[in-house]
Amino acid sequence: MCGIVGYVGPKPAFGYLLEGLFRLEYRGYDSAGVALQYEKTIGIRKKTGRVSQLAEICKQNPIPGSCGIGHTRWATHGEPSDLNSHPHTGGNGEVVLVHNGVIENYSLLRDRLRALGYVFLSATDTEVAAHLVAYQLQVAVDAGTNPLDAKTCVQAVEAAAAQIKGTYGLAVLFRDVPGLLVATRLGSPLVVGIGRGEHFLASDASPLVGNTDQIVYLKDHETAVITADSFVLHHHDGTAPAVSIQALVQTSRDTELGEFEHHMLKEIFEQPQTIENALRGRLDDEEATAKFGGLNLDPQTLRAIDRIVLTGCGTSWHAGLVGEYLIEGFARIPVEVEYASELRYRNPPMSDRTMIFAITQSGETADTLAAMRECKRKGHPTLAICNTVGSSIAREADGGIYLHAGPEVGVASTKAFTSQVTVLTLLSLLLGRMRHLSYPEGTKIIGQLRAMPDTIRQTLKCFDQVKQVARKYYTAENFLYLGRLFNFPVALEGALKLKEISYIHAEGYPAAEMKHGPIALIEKDTPSVFIAPRCEIYPKVMSNLEEVKARRGPVIAIACEGDTKIAELADDVIYVPEVEEYLQPLVTSIPLQLLAYQIAILRGCNVDRPRNLAKSVTVE
Ligand code: F6R
Repeated sequence: MCGIVGYVGPKPAFGYLLEGLFRLEYRGYDSAGVALQYEKTIGIRKKTGRVSQLAEICKQNPIPGSCGIGHTRWATHGEPSDLNSHPHTGGNGEVVLVHNGVIENYSLLRDRLRALGYVFLSATDTEVAAHLVAYQLQVAVDAGTNPLDAKTCVQAVEAAAAQIKGTYGLAVLFRDVPGLLVATRLGSPLVVGIGRGEHFLASDASPLVGNTDQIVYLKDHETAVITADSFVLHHHDGTAPAVSIQALVQTSRDTELGEFEHHMLKEIFEQPQTIENALRGRLDDEEATAKFGGLNLDPQTLRAIDRIVLTGCGTSWHAGLVGEYLIEGFARIPVEVEYASELRYRNPPMSDRTMIFAITQSGETADTLAAMRECKRKGHPTLAICNTVGSSIAREADGGIYLHAGPEVGVASTKAFTSQVTVLTLLSLLLGRMRHLSYPEGTKIIGQLRAMPDTIRQTLKCFDQVKQVARKYYTAENFLYLGRLFNFPVALEGALKLKEISYIHAEGYPAAEMKHGPIALIEKDTPSVFIAPRCEIYPKVMSNLEEVKARRGPVIAIACEGDTKIAELADDVIYVPEVEEYLQPLVTSIPLQLLAYQIAILRGCNVDRPRNLAKSVTVE
């Protein structure tokens, strides 16, 4: 959460900072700000609201300078306000910094600094870091042995960082040391872009696209000392780690809207392609199985696995639930799906042969990263199913599977979900073929997966039906989403999509559980979305649907093409192509994504930037 940018070079820094903040806005959009150093001053502009509002005030009141930092905020400590916006100033303005993360011991540090005479203007934890760096700088300079130069500044940042408990990505400017940018991290990602006679900084690689293709990911406890012409790394333990330069492979077109009005809609319509990308090169016809380049586990180890733990948050956790059904069904290996936020503090018994998969789009979710580290610490093979190449989770995992879905910009996850489910289907095929699945079964699954991109293309044609349904129900204040077996996780995901972008209360339930409580919610203004494609227990789902109708609850059914029976019972039907049960989540999730999108549009909500949310949850 929160986005950080920085620039040092020959050009005015403002252009890169602003463009970078626009690209990072998905990480938080409560406020935005920039600070630019010019001669021996640092000019600051910051504003509650969107980056466009910051752009407006900077247009009226521009700031010069070719060394600067910027920030887009998702509020943790202190409400969204101009005063709480970053950058924050330390001492008497000699230090200016931006911060991503949470300083857990901020009140203790603030009390100490107040006692030393430092005055706090904001309610943020970040201001503590600014004053702490200023204090450490003062201590070093006052001792008389240190000149006010880059080395002393770096020492001050590291001395301050050593006192912080929690997580941080910090980018710091020093008023009296022009042209110096110091950045350091613990738990919050930072990446440096190397240009010709210029350097860029960002909290993920997206602002660097089009500016450089050479990047360096900072590791925890590393400090980047950056000027226009030089970039060195320093470790808090006093060593100088080698700089490992990686190639940045991404085109700016990936994040452009094209013909679509919103990123979310674009990403929903990209799914035939993203599913194809997830399958590419991974279907082994000869052996009737799946293959992955990056698992880094030999067949013996894979065969010996006796339990799998899938962990993640939100939508990724829902994909994990589908994965549980798939893996247990195909490979007969017991699977647990754990919320990463719980797993990181729980201590469930796990045998030596337990394998962990962290499922994540961003690869930066703080809880998922922490859960993964905890499992690694206990010696389990820990792998990632991840979309973002080079993200913290992708780098720290023992191996993994990339989704190759391209950047997901809309805050509501859509294409990442179906790619995660596709990859989990491949994984269950691989593990199944090592155990119980026969060659013909493997061949059949491969054929069906290969057809999936076209099936999704067909499914997307339901958008017109979805629009009609949305028009009828968009004023409802409560929704229920009900499904069974493979469509139970889809019900959870459909409900999550609706609540996060349209602010309508929605609950997902296994359809048969309804009568153990939620049925009390049924009334004429509460629509129930039944995910009811033909399946083994279709008649049972129909009975659940009848129970809702008997209580005068409106029913929207997601059903297979040609299902006329359901049309007699439900108030509205959205038809999707018929596929095998285990592939249904890929198909049935699409109309639910579209329904949430269309309802949010009709309610005038900002679908790509829903309130209170951020794309990447990098705080606990
Ligand atoms: C919902 C959504 C979130 C994320 C969750 C995990 O639409 O996007 O629930 O799924 O924050 O994020 P990742 O997958 O990046 O770890």
